Amino acid sequence: MPNPSALQKAVALLQAGELVAFPTETVYGLGADAANPAAVQKIFATKGRPADHPLIVHLADVKGLERWATDIPPVAHKLAAAFWPGPLTLILKKQDWVPMAVTGGQDTVGLRVPAHPLALRLIRAFAAVSPQGGVAAPSANRFGRISPTTAAHVHAELGECVPLILDGGACSLGIESTILDLSRLAVHGAEILRPGGLDAPTLAKVLGVMPQQRDKKSAATAPRVSGSLASHYAPTTPLRLVDTATLPDFLAQQRAAGRRCGVLALHPPKDPGALCRVLSADPTQYAQRLYASLRELDAAALDLIVVETPPPGFTWNAIHDRLRRAAT
Ligand code: TXA
Ligand code: MG
Repeated sequence: MPNPSALQKAVALLQAGELVAFPTETVYGLGADAANPAAVQKIFATKGRPADHPLIVHLADVKGLERWATDIPPVAHKLAAAFWPGPLTLILKKQDWVPMAVTGGQDTVGLRVPAHPLALRLIRAFAAVSPQGGVAAPSANRFGRISPTTAAHVHAELGECVPLILDGGACSLGIESTILDLSRLAVHGAEILRPGGLDAPTLAKVLGVMPQQRDKKSAATAPRVSGSLASHYAPTTPLRLVDTATLPDFLAQQRAAGRRCGVLALHPPKDPGALCRVLSADPTQYAQRLYASLRELDAAALDLIVVETPPPGFTWNAIHDRLRRAAT
């Protein structure tokens, strides 16, 4: 935990319209005062992110819902009560005053209360001195790249471009929040825009129905979401998903062709030539290490990163989603 003066400095920077990187339980965020369009603009410039991709506004508590959103369906309150603080982002109709800069020009806003103690301390301290108290924060990486799960990753991604990086250790979840769109409830129901730290069956317990992943037809009438781009969350080294059964042959072929492979495996491969990271068969632990492991392999100057395809099932959904995009 950083000392109180680091927190004070962070709040002062946010108030002054500057950026602060901070830990959440999912990934590190690159924060700015969400009510200040000029500050929000710095996020887009620093990340190299297109201006029409909206940001999530991080709140200190559920009371912020009414300040930022309007036409809030009762189920939003139920979900917030059940899962905040936590890895759930709710998309709701925005209040008129909410700057378009933060919503990418859309009339909806993404809201979440993060669970990391340091994030909460930061947002609470900021909320105490700012009228709206929202911190806009995308993942603290360059656009399209792997999200950072340690302060060192943020430093490697954005380094000198960020005046302050708060260090809260390694993120406990390691994968981004689940994004649930409640802004089109009447027509489309609650739609998952991005699978993440909370899985669909867990959400269904509060929703009363299983939320569906936004499909192509529904997406045709919906706004764009950067985390839903086919290619995203990607290392610079090419990445391929290979099934457990074909992995040994695939690696042998690559070695014969003189290609250096790194392997992200569930079972240690016998291939002597491959640099290997073995991850847990438990999806929670797998997710926690996923991005850090991809970064390590990406830094090893390899020709190819080979990922052993994880098993099917809801608890692996978010991981499959990220690996698929990383492979594109
Ligand atoms: O876990 C997380 O969600 C992390 C931490 C820092 O909170 N944040 C994060 O932010 O992953 P970012 O910007 O990397 O991804 C947020 C996603 C983007 O794909 C964005 O398009 C979508 O949320 N989003 C935000 N507001 C939206 C809105 N109003 N409508 C639709 N999608 C929205
Ligand atoms: Mg991101």
